[in-house]
Amino acid sequence: MDKTKQNDIYTKAKEWIIEAGQYIRSRMYKELKVTTKSDPNDLVTDLDRDTERLLTQRIRQTYPNHFIISEEGYGDKLTDLKGTVWIIDPIDGTMNFIHQKRNFAISIGIYHDHVGEIGFIYDVVGDVLYSAKRGLGAFKNERPLKRLDSNVPLSQAMIAMNHFWLCENHLVCEKTMQKFVRSIRGTRTYGSAALEFAYVAEGILDGYLAINLSPWDVAAGIVIVNEVGGLTTTIDGDALSLLTKSPILTCNPSLQLEIIQYIKKGRKVT
Ligand code: IPD
Ligand code: CA
Ligand code: CA
Ligand code: CA
Repeated sequence: MDKTKQNDIYTKAKEWIIEAGQYIRSRMYKELKVTTKSDPNDLVTDLDRDTERLLTQRIRQTYPNHFIISEEGYGDKLTDLKGTVWIIDPIDGTMNFIHQKRNFAISIGIYHDHVGEIGFIYDVVGDVLYSAKRGLGAFKNERPLKRLDSNVPLSQAMIAMNHFWLCENHLVCEKTMQKFVRSIRGTRTYGSAALEFAYVAEGILDGYLAINLSPWDVAAGIVIVNEVGGLTTTIDGDALSLLTKSPILTCNPSLQLEIIQYIKKGRKVT
């Protein structure tokens, strides 16, 4: 994508994500309609849907030739990432949104012919906007984010991961993961994949391991983490598809091989 086009889309997307954030803040303390999706803990609200509708309307009015992949049903059914594709999660961390009214974000990743060009993650309540343009660095509000320190030993790493890694699961033997958490400095669980990616980019987390993420959970984060020299792959170190769900590792480059090797020891064959 040429830089003028990248800049034009970046400016519009920034305007719309801030507008969507204001919209969420204006409604979030009023009554929400909460329903469930695949299981009793897979929650969604009318505000998740309405925010996605607002964003998709803006995109479709201004860029009728662009495509959209999104969580709540207003997107397109795509089989590839040809052309310009917006990958949207209107509220990432819906459970936090409902229970805590904080620790959730709007996530927008923009790809062109399979390449991540723009990423925005907006912490709506904290009013913190993480952003990146491919080749032009990443920012927290107006402040440029530093390149990640390439010398973090695993023993001093803070890794975000949830507790399901330590229960019996289909991916990695829980004993291996129990050893893993004892071999690092600490773990954290924030409950919003997008914010966990943003914190890796900011360098306040050294990595994030997730069992099963969707394209809209990670699309923006990948672009932002890339711009500070971080790496994102499947937990086996393979390239990600942004058309399916995957188990994901995003981290400081100095840790990637070691974490993948560690996981390999307990990896279950599926
Ligand atoms: C979820 C959050 C959560 C992650 C889940 C995602 P949602 O997204 O990112 O942290 O563990 O896998 O589905 O449903 O709140 O947008
Ligand atoms: Ca959801
Ligand atoms: Ca999500
Ligand atoms: Ca969501």
